[in-house]
Amino acid sequence: MAGGLQLFRAITTGVTKDNKAIFPVMPYLDYGKLDESDILAVIAYIRNLPSIETSFPEREIDFPMNFIINTIPQRASLTTRPDPIDQVAYGKYVFTAAACTECHTKAVKGKIVGEYLAGGFEFEFPDGSVLRSSNITKHSTGIGLWDREFFINRFTAYNDPLFPLTPVAPGEFQTVMPWYMYAGMTREDLGALYDYLETVPPVDNLVERFTPAGL
Ligand code: HEC
Repeated sequence: MAGGLQLFRAITTGVTKDNKAIFPVMPYLDYGKLDESDILAVIAYIRNLPSIETSFPEREIDFPMNFIINTIPQRASLTTRPDPIDQVAYGKYVFTAAACTECHTKAVKGKIVGEYLAGGFEFEFPDGSVLRSSNITKHSTGIGLWDREFFINRFTAYNDPLFPLTPVAPGEFQTVMPWYMYAGMTREDLGALYDYLETVPPVDNLVERFTPAGL
């Protein structure tokens, strides 16, 4: 299982088998805080997928990120998955496993510049439009008015085969929020996520969700 060890290191510390730092869009800093058994389960799953031969160009990273990237990997600090009875601790673990922080805390070129989970992280589309992540703290400019049930349903709604899919024309609002992936979580895990978010300090930050190109 040498390949398994390399995968374990890549997922939890951000270093590839060729000793290169992985671009931090891959949330290895979060994964390095999980329970060893959960990482091993993911590796077992990946190992079970059919192998497909692909090729892709070498990555190119602009200055100064090409240097900064090497300073980000960290030794993993694995933990034990908390008992779901402790909703907040368990919710925080689920939150880490789902890597919500990466998109919901504003950062520029890998450096955090915003308050924890107050949103505003910018995703620029090739046409020049800008999408920003939401404030998911419990402030009225965030999800302060959402109750637990509403929060859970907002995610599980995507499991409904009748969920209205709206076609998106070029230049219109679209999202990178992985709604469909998270919709597969259990209601218990989503509820625990909410319980954890309730413990995060509320931040007053009104985010403009989307700016079309040219504005
Ligand atoms: C790949 C980036 C990304 C990740 C990862 C991500 N989000 Fe989001 N999220 C966004 C963006 C961008 C938006 C704003 C657009 C939208 O509403 O879809 C958003 C919107 C939301 C909203 C809607 C808030 C509102 O006011 O309508 C909630 C709630 C939310 N995210 C919670 C989470 C949680 C909880 C997680 C982890 C389980 C998570 N997000 C992970 C990018 C992300």
